[in-house]
Amino acid sequence: MKSSWKKIWENKKKKFFGNNINNLLKLNGWDTQVSTFSTNAWNHFVQNIIKKYKIKKEHKILEIGCGSGAFLIPFYKKKIACVGLDYSKNLLSVAKKVMPNAKLYLSEAKNLGQLKKYKFDFIFIHSVFQYFDNLKYADKVLHNLKPFLRKETKLFILDVPNHLKKKNWEQDQIGLLGKKAFLKRYKNYKHLFFKKFFFKQFCKKNNYKIKFLKSNLLKKKSSKYRLNILIEVKNK
Ligand SMILES: C[S@@+](CC[C@H](N)C(=O)[O-])C[C@H]1O[C@@H](n2cnc3c(N)ncnc32)[C@H](O)[C@@H]1O
Repeated sequence: MKSSWKKIWENKKKKFFGNNINNLLKLNGWDTQVSTFSTNAWNHFVQNIIKKYKIKKEHKILEIGCGSGAFLIPFYKKKIACVGLDYSKNLLSVAKKVMPNAKLYLSEAKNLGQLKKYKFDFIFIHSVFQYFDNLKYADKVLHNLKPFLRKETKLFILDVPNHLKKKNWEQDQIGLLGKKAFLKRYKNYKHLFFKKFFFKQFCKKNNYKIKFLKSNLLKKKSSKYRLNILIEVKNK
C-alpha cells in the first residue's frame, strides 16, 4: 500500500499523551479546522451508540482503525470487551497505555488474520475508509470481514466520504483554506470517496442487510459530506 497517509498517522507525536479524551481525539486527527467538535459532542455520539444498540458488558466489540483509542475508551470504561486494530505503532502504543486490558493489534485493515480467534457482536470502522489507497483495497477489507459477520453482528462503517458530496466538499474546503492551501494539503494526501452503490453491491452479493444511518451521528462540520452505514446478516 502507498505510504503517505500511513506516515501521517505513524508520525503523530505522543506530545498529547494523557488519557484525557481531548488528547486522544487530537492524536486521532480530530484537530483540524473542519474536523473539530466538542468533547461533549463526541461523548454524546459514542454514548448514543452504546444506548441505542444496547451494548453491554457481555458483548465483544472490534474497532478497525482505533488509533489512540478515543472511540473505544467509553466502551472500555463500561467493562465491555474491546479489541482494536490499527497500522500506526505510535497511536496503538497510546491506546495500550490508556486501555491496558484491551486486546490491541498492529496491522493493516485488510489483514485480519490475528483476529481469527474472536467473535464480535459489534464492529466499528469510524473515519478510516478515506485513507485507503483505492476501492480495491476497501473491497478487500469488506471481503475479509465476512468471516466475522454472524447473525447477531452489527458492522458500522461510519464517516465515509460520500462521492455525491465531493464537489461541495472541495468548494467548501477551498472557501475555508484558500485554493493554494487546499491544493498543498491534499496534493499527496487524497481522500477516497465512495458511492452508496459500492456498499450496496457488496451487501447484495452477500445477502446482507444495509442501512444508511441519518441520525445520532457525530456533530461536526464535515459530517454532511459523509456516509454512515450499518451492515447486518439477513435473517433467514
Ligand atoms: C481519523 S483516525 C480515526 C481514529 C478513530 N477511529 C476515531 O474515530 O477516533 C484514522 C485512523 O485509521 C488508521 N488507519 C488508516 N488507514 C488504515 C489502514 N489501512 N489500516 C489500519 N489502520 C488504518 C489510522 O492509523 C488512524 O488511527
